[in-house]
Amino acid sequence: MDNFTFYSPTKFVFGKGMESEAGKLVKEFGGSKVLIHYGGGSVVRSGLLDRVKASLDEASIAYVELGGVKPNPRSGLVYEGIDLCRKEEVDFILAVGGGSAIDSAKAIAAGTIYDGDFWDYYQGKPILKALPVGTVLTIAAAGSEGSGDSVITKEEGMFKRGASGEGIRPKFSILNPELTTTLPPYQTACGITDIMAHLYERYLTNSTDVEVTDRLIEALLLTMKKEGPRAIKDPADYEARANIMWAGTMAHTNSCGVGRSQDWSSHCIEHELSALYDCAHGAGLAVTMPQVFKYVMNHNVMRFAQAAVRVWGCEMNFENPEQTALEGIDAFASFLKSIGMPSTIAEFGGKEEDVPVLTKSLCYGDGGNGTLSGFVTLTEEDCANIYKMML
Ligand code: NZQ
Ligand code: ZN
Repeated sequence: MDNFTFYSPTKFVFGKGMESEAGKLVKEFGGSKVLIHYGGGSVVRSGLLDRVKASLDEASIAYVELGGVKPNPRSGLVYEGIDLCRKEEVDFILAVGGGSAIDSAKAIAAGTIYDGDFWDYYQGKPILKALPVGTVLTIAAAGSEGSGDSVITKEEGMFKRGASGEGIRPKFSILNPELTTTLPPYQTACGITDIMAHLYERYLTNSTDVEVTDRLIEALLLTMKKEGPRAIKDPADYEARANIMWAGTMAHTNSCGVGRSQDWSSHCIEHELSALYDCAHGAGLAVTMPQVFKYVMNHNVMRFAQAAVRVWGCEMNFENPEQTALEGIDAFASFLKSIGMPSTIAEFGGKEEDVPVLTKSLCYGDGGNGTLSGFVTLTEEDCANIYKMML
């Protein structure tokens, strides 16, 4: 196991009706004037936004609001939010929604108190300081409610890039599984896929003797395998939603990624898909992961064979561990299909001529150095081969 520091100070408030605590929590973390930031309207339609405002009113906290965050959030609204926060002297950002609203809120929080262009952070500058952020989560997926990360798409060039830093880790996150019962099955499935990706990207490690984190990841993958189909079948199943929601948070606070190298190639490869086709991140990952896994499998076939046996119930073939590894990858791909996820980029309208566009943006766009490092170092040619496998 590698050396590590783990510091994940978000206060999680979990359960039915907990959005009514929003006002008290903002006060606890020093907020007096809030920007409420949300997406395309689901929180308006469900009445959640009104309940959050009532909670702020009750705690005598002033607020302004900015909605309209799109899935795969854009830089334009971030600049608008930064201007609004400066003009209104906002001192706390409250995201109400999914990963997109939360990531946009984090970008605004960092940019408001930064003299330069907030995009500097999305080109690798760590975010050490930002206005405090809190979240009321409405979809179990990105894990942004517990992560120090944010992903934004720069409209000029459509570069989708991530920023990280302790400054943007949420002070608190309210997780009420009931709020996720209004999700359409497709979005639920996208969330399930993203959560499983966060687990797999940590599982693909070059560190050795990481039994504790291997076992944690496997437990969470098994949970998703059991609870995912339950929530798709019955969207109102509170217990399934609750298990998925907490698994989604645990998958990305990094509690199961410490002490080991991680991968993240599938995420980088996917971000080009959601930038070009504007597909949901989870759907893009469903197309990406099985092909990446097949491409890199021989680097450490026992890693994939272990997951095949422990998570997917395959029998270990000691004579031919490649076969076990492949069976596990196929079982994962079939699972993703069974919950309604796509398996080719053709399903987003992608064509063969897109391969060089995706590859160039991935490897050289906005600061890229030509390769992706992780479980295996992937060259430009490798990335092009992987995109071709997704056709
Ligand atoms: O915009 P509204 O109207 O709210 O509708 C949203 C949106 O259309 C809808 N939705 C959310 N909660 C709902 C609901 N509809 C009905 N009922 C509810 N309770 O679902 C759609 C998707 O929302 P979005 O916020 O985009 O989903 P998600 O949480 O999957 O976030 C995706 C974004 O997170 C980034 C992705 O790249 C993508 O841009 N990621 C962020 C990470 C992080 N910050 O740590 C890590 C992830 O790997 C990921 O890259
Ligand atoms: Zn993700």
